[in-house]
Amino acid sequence: MRAEFLDFSPPCVGEDEIDAVVETLKSPWITTGPRTRRLEEAFTRFIGAPAALALNSCTAALHTALATLGVGPGDEVITTPMTFAASVNVVEHVGARPVLVDIEPDTLNISPAAVERAIGKETKVVLPVHFGGHPAELDTLRDLASSNGAIVLEDAAHAVPAKYKGRMIGAGDNPVAFSFYATKNMTTAEGGMLTGAGDLVDRARIMSLHGMSRDAWKRYSKEGSWFYEVVVPGFKYNMTDIAAAIGLVQLDKLCRMQQRRREVVARYNEAFGQLEAMELPVERPEVEHAWHLYTLRLRLDRLSIDRAQFITELTARNIGTSVHFIPVHLHPYYREKYGFEAREFPVAFDAYQRLVSLPLHPGLSESDVDDVIEAVTDVAQKFAR
Ligand SMILES: Cc1ncc(COP(=O)(O)O)c(C=O)c1O
Repeated sequence: MRAEFLDFSPPCVGEDEIDAVVETLKSPWITTGPRTRRLEEAFTRFIGAPAALALNSCTAALHTALATLGVGPGDEVITTPMTFAASVNVVEHVGARPVLVDIEPDTLNISPAAVERAIGKETKVVLPVHFGGHPAELDTLRDLASSNGAIVLEDAAHAVPAKYKGRMIGAGDNPVAFSFYATKNMTTAEGGMLTGAGDLVDRARIMSLHGMSRDAWKRYSKEGSWFYEVVVPGFKYNMTDIAAAIGLVQLDKLCRMQQRRREVVARYNEAFGQLEAMELPVERPEVEHAWHLYTLRLRLDRLSIDRAQFITELTARNIGTSVHFIPVHLHPYYREKYGFEAREFPVAFDAYQRLVSLPLHPGLSESDVDDVIEAVTDVAQKFAR
């Protein structure tokens, strides 16, 4: 057995990121400034996005997008229960009603058929989450949204870089929110990015920084002006240059880091494909998966233990794991406010009871991967039914 605990998802930062932070701290500008602009430009190029706005989280990007779109009381936002609560909390923040619908059994992404049943004249936004980095069925969702006068706002917290039908997630005109949280495929410790059409991103920029008129951030520099106007009561969601400095280095490394993620996924698939008790994550032919998460589903009828015990056994073998996600409708706030039953979304509920996410990050060595494979195989065999 492994001697030391293998963390589920430590941040993958090195000396280059440390040097970049130190250099920023020694520079005359540490909050939103030239490095943040460079990260926006580099990210725009990398994604092929029309425009990008760097923020201090994906949550901030989602909230800013909804507020910029004017979503509010009386409006509905259709989204998935199989997500981190942030995707739905932001709908509450703007006073709109989240309408949860069930997911697809293979990808665990929002089901277009379920969206079609729920969409109506109150629907202002359809909010898919690219679960684990696997793009949602965007073409159908876009068609449904546009024929009902709604907008698709993508939660791409897990999906950098991912492609749907050959096109990078974030390359379209609709708003797309990315996360650079510590565990994500690229990190700025805390951070996020909103991509979308230029005019939308311009308005979001104002909304994200107190509602101050354009380029207010330059007001302390020589070319700036002391004058600004507040045009809307906006938020304080800007990214710092310290964070952007980390992001610039991470973006440079992203393709190499993705390569390592794919190597680990290939080894896991090969090993776990042999185990009867494991249902493997899928990658549909029309997508390129970002492989943010490697999520197994246990076939509980092939095991004598449940998911919680499976995790306990892996922990005892020094392997860190996680569960993505506790579906939103099971959390007390949502359960009580909307009166959800646990089995209201049967696919999500069934998946939840069987989900285990394994360590997947570029810092995993071959022997770490061996250890994960050995531990999962051992537990699956010992508790086989
Ligand atoms: C699907 C999803 N959406 C949104 C978020 C929020 O991201 P952030 O922490 O950058 O606000 C997360 C964070 O883990 C997430 O997993």
